[in-house]
Amino acid sequence: MSMELPTIRLIKGAAEIIDQVLLPGRYVVRRLQTVDQVCEAIKALRVRGAPALGVTGAYGLLVAVEEKWRGDGAHYFDDKDEDSKGLEEFPADVTVDDVRSLLDSAARTIGETRPTAVNLHWAIDRMAKVYRKNWTSTADMLRALRNEAVAIYREDLEMCRALGRHGAELLEDGAKVITHCNAGGLATSGFGTALGVVFAAVEAGKSVHVYADETRPLLQGARLTAWECIRNKIPVTLLVDGASSSLLSRGDISCAIVGADRIAANGDAANKIGTCNLAVVCHRYGVPFYVAAPSSTIDPSLADGSSIPIEERAADEVTSFAGVQTAPSETDTFNPAFDVTPADLIAGIITERGVLHPPYDFKGGEDAA
Ligand code: MRU
Repeated sequence: MSMELPTIRLIKGAAEIIDQVLLPGRYVVRRLQTVDQVCEAIKALRVRGAPALGVTGAYGLLVAVEEKWRGDGAHYFDDKDEDSKGLEEFPADVTVDDVRSLLDSAARTIGETRPTAVNLHWAIDRMAKVYRKNWTSTADMLRALRNEAVAIYREDLEMCRALGRHGAELLEDGAKVITHCNAGGLATSGFGTALGVVFAAVEAGKSVHVYADETRPLLQGARLTAWECIRNKIPVTLLVDGASSSLLSRGDISCAIVGADRIAANGDAANKIGTCNLAVVCHRYGVPFYVAAPSSTIDPSLADGSSIPIEERAADEVTSFAGVQTAPSETDTFNPAFDVTPADLIAGIITERGVLHPPYDFKGGEDAA
């Protein structure tokens, strides 16, 4: 069985996602056919993880066009080239400006769903650069947009495969790797970043044992990372977030590898809340702490992590669990969805170009490093 997952696909005019809220109990594929459905899926974390959000943003713009102008039973866009021929049917009276103004509005709405993962904004900007070109034909513009969105999806798969290969060289046969949250196939086009490194090492014939932080409050580690490891027959041990110090104090963990939602020019990296705690514990016990991310996660416009926007989520994620109240409902809460690990705690950033070491300098883009 392939280690890749069909996390997000563009199928017959809809963005199809694996509904990650229902995992591991139920594997349900959901068709997102309106901008509202795309935004709800992102906000509710049905689709999540920085690179997957980028692809969802790009496909979401195509969904906006389908929603507004879909013909009877027909569709315009598909990620399979041979199933993406509907544009001949696109209404002739819709102008380039009509489509642009719809896309500007959809781009704003989708872009406002989650602030931290730069990939979402990066992908929407890539699409905007295409639709803002000087088009004379609506069909040509839409064809180019579809190709750009599919390129974002395909490039992400390739970048994850490449960074996986680079990262795998860091792992000895028998490595024990701790990770936080889910940076697997579910968080990307299908192969993963931090888990992609593990998958690539396993594909290269090494044995790897994964230690998965459960990742409070929404349990991406327990629900998703453990599920992906078990699906791929990779030994996995689940621990509560607070147990990482006890685990690392035993002295036999090879390294930590986590994903990232946004990496500033100096290498400071935002990732799921609790990631920085793990980095601090790794520092205390001399365990190398790696960040694995494609270059679409690097934001050269931010000098350091202090200006990375951090999403704050609803109080009930902390005061209740699976619908059961676990704290008085009036309790004041602090619920940032991400934290920033300072670059000086990061032993290396694994990208599709190789493993980069400090000092990091992404000011001119990933090439500058
Ligand atoms: O809130 P989430 O589940 O979207 O947070 C995801 C993470 O923090 C991932 O580690 C990150 O996006 C990297 S995914 C390859």
